[in-house]
This record gives sequence, structure tokens and C-alpha cells, in this order.
Amino acid sequence: MALVPSYIQRLANYKPGKPISEAQRELGIQNFIKLASNENPLGSSPKAIEAIQNSLVNLHRYPDATGYELRTKLANRFNIKMENVVLGAGSEGIMSTIIRTFLLNDDELISASNSFIGFKVLANASGRRVHWVPMKDYRYDLTAMAEKITDYTKIIYIANPDNPMGTTITRQEFDEFYTHVPERVLIILDEAYYEFAKNSPDYPNSMSYRYDNVITLRTFSKAYGLAGARIGYGFAHESLIENLLKVKVPFEPSLSAQVAGLAALDDVKFLAKTLKINQEGMAYLKQEFDKLGIQQVSSEANFITTVWDSEETASKLTQDLLEKGVIVRQLTGFGWPNCIRISVGLDSENQKCIESLNQVL
Ligand SMILES: Cc1ncc(COP(=O)(O)O)c(C=O)c1O
Repeated sequence: MALVPSYIQRLANYKPGKPISEAQRELGIQNFIKLASNENPLGSSPKAIEAIQNSLVNLHRYPDATGYELRTKLANRFNIKMENVVLGAGSEGIMSTIIRTFLLNDDELISASNSFIGFKVLANASGRRVHWVPMKDYRYDLTAMAEKITDYTKIIYIANPDNPMGTTITRQEFDEFYTHVPERVLIILDEAYYEFAKNSPDYPNSMSYRYDNVITLRTFSKAYGLAGARIGYGFAHESLIENLLKVKVPFEPSLSAQVAGLAALDDVKFLAKTLKINQEGMAYLKQEFDKLGIQQVSSEANFITTVWDSEETASKLTQDLLEKGVIVRQLTGFGWPNCIRISVGLDSENQKCIESLNQVL
């Protein structure tokens, strides 16, 4: 169709983890457990739910376009200024704003191939040249990425921890990499799984090195269980934020999303519970995969990626598990067709997943 640029026509539709309702329709089974989208198995922060309920009477009003309260609260929490904080409809919303704000005609992007699919979609839809650098041992290969930097490079994207592998780059690796990045290049450090990884000894909490050309992205989707509300935030130099605010869709994030974020930040109990069940669930799955002789990638997030001998094996296993009522994610769309990513669930869900794996293997 002549109306649509060829780089858009070439894009493939984003395929999310199978929703429970779709699996129910297809298989006629009622009780599915979904371990396919790295969601919070506890549900949402109860304080956030209450805040959304209380905000419903104001739904006829536009939300605060400046996001004043939430930006101020985040700034206080992380010891920065409100001018250093941007909000978005999920961290993906902010990624989208970044791409619309900073890219000029011949600008290019660099990231790892087969990393977070959300960024891949946005980068490819920008129509700009993207250098997708293969990963090494399921990790970002920062040395190879540094070699791709040219006069045209404008944005470098790093997910830390990565999705779908859950691997991290270390502080030392990032510091070394940073020496190769010119100041005119923006680095996006996507820390969607920050809360799960932050206590790992080598994890580089990017708040502690606030360079002028680095933007940190975080989200309420995972640790706070608010994936459906669409609320994320970013930290960066105030001039970067100022320009992002000019381009951001004015009333994003929604009223409900903003109040949910505000309340979730105070829900210390929910966060602690989330981190506890995640830590226990990760240890359990890791141990059980080992017992079953399943190859797995060492992860710092809320999921583990398992590696199989072929796409066919992974595909059959995914289908067999589905028929047992367990939805997991074969990583074909991410470019790892022989891998299956399994998100941590509640204890009972993790046990059901292992039992089912045992049966189908
Ligand atoms: C690495 C990474 N970044 C960002 C996101 C999206 O986060 P949000 O829901 O805040 O848009 C995800 C979600 O799976 C992710 O894995």
C-alpha cells in the first residue's frame, strides 16, 4: 500500500504472552496459570487499587499533565529534583517519547539483538538504521556494541536486567563501556526489573552515576503489580527531561495511573512481599530445573529462560504445558525459538508448573 512507508509494512505485529481468556477459549480449560508475561503473581499493590477506586469520581477531569505529585514524590524518594523525572504510560511510553524527541534524519540506534521486544518494535518503527548486536553467552556484548558507535549513533538501548534472558551487565562493564560513548549519544538504561536485581553485588544502580547523557527507565508494572495501569518513570538530566516533556502525549499517564503510582510507592509491605515470593520462587524453579536437567540462563529478574535442543522441542513443550493449564512463553518472537521463558508465580503455581513439566518431559 503506497500510503504506508515500507519500513512500517515490514514490521510484524507484537505478539504478547497468551492471555488467559484466549487460552480458555481455545482449550476449554478454566483454570489456567499464566507464567508468560513477567507479571506480579500477587496481583496489584492494595494501596494502589484503593487509590484508583477513590479517584473514579474524578474521571471526567483531565489528569495533571505535569504529573506534579508523582514526580515530586519520586524525586524525594531518590534524592533528585522533580525536573529530573519524567512519567509515561509504562516505561515503553517513555521509550516512545524518547524516540520521537531525539532522532534526526540520519541518526542511528544500537542495541542487542534478541533483547526486549518492546524497544525493537519502537526502534524499527522509527525507520532509522538500527545496529542489532548479537548477545554473547545470553548477555549484552558491550564490547561489540561499542565497536558499532559511529558519528551517526544517537541512541543506545540497554535493558539491565535483560528481558528475556534476565542477565545483567556489571557496574564495571558499564563504566568501561561508557568511556567509548560520546556525550552526544543518549544511553537508555532500562531497569524494568530493578527492584529484583538491585541487591546483586555487581548490579550497577544507575542512580549513582547520573551522567548527562544517560536516562534511567523504571516501571510500576512489575514489582508493584501495575502492568495494566500503564505507569513508568524515567530519571535524567533536566534538559533531557524538559525536552521529553515537550513531546510527551500531554495527558499521559492517565489519572488512575498517576494515583496508583503515588499509592504504590507507599506500599512497603506489598513490595517486600513481592520481593520475598520472587526470591523464593526463583530459587525453587532454579533448583527444580536443575533436578530435571533443564538448561537455564542465570537470571536476576522475576523469570527464568530455559534452553532446549530445538525450536520443535520448545514449541511442543509450550503446547503440552498449555494443555496442562500452564501458559509459558516460547521466545520465537524475541529471536530465541529454542527457548522458553517462565515467569515466577505463587508457590502453588510454581509447583504446578514443575509437576506439569515433569509429566510432559
Ligand atoms: C526490559 C523491559 N522493559 C520495559 C518493559 C515494559 O514495561 P512497562 O510496562 O513499564 O511499559 C518490560 C516489560 O516486560 C521489559 O521487560
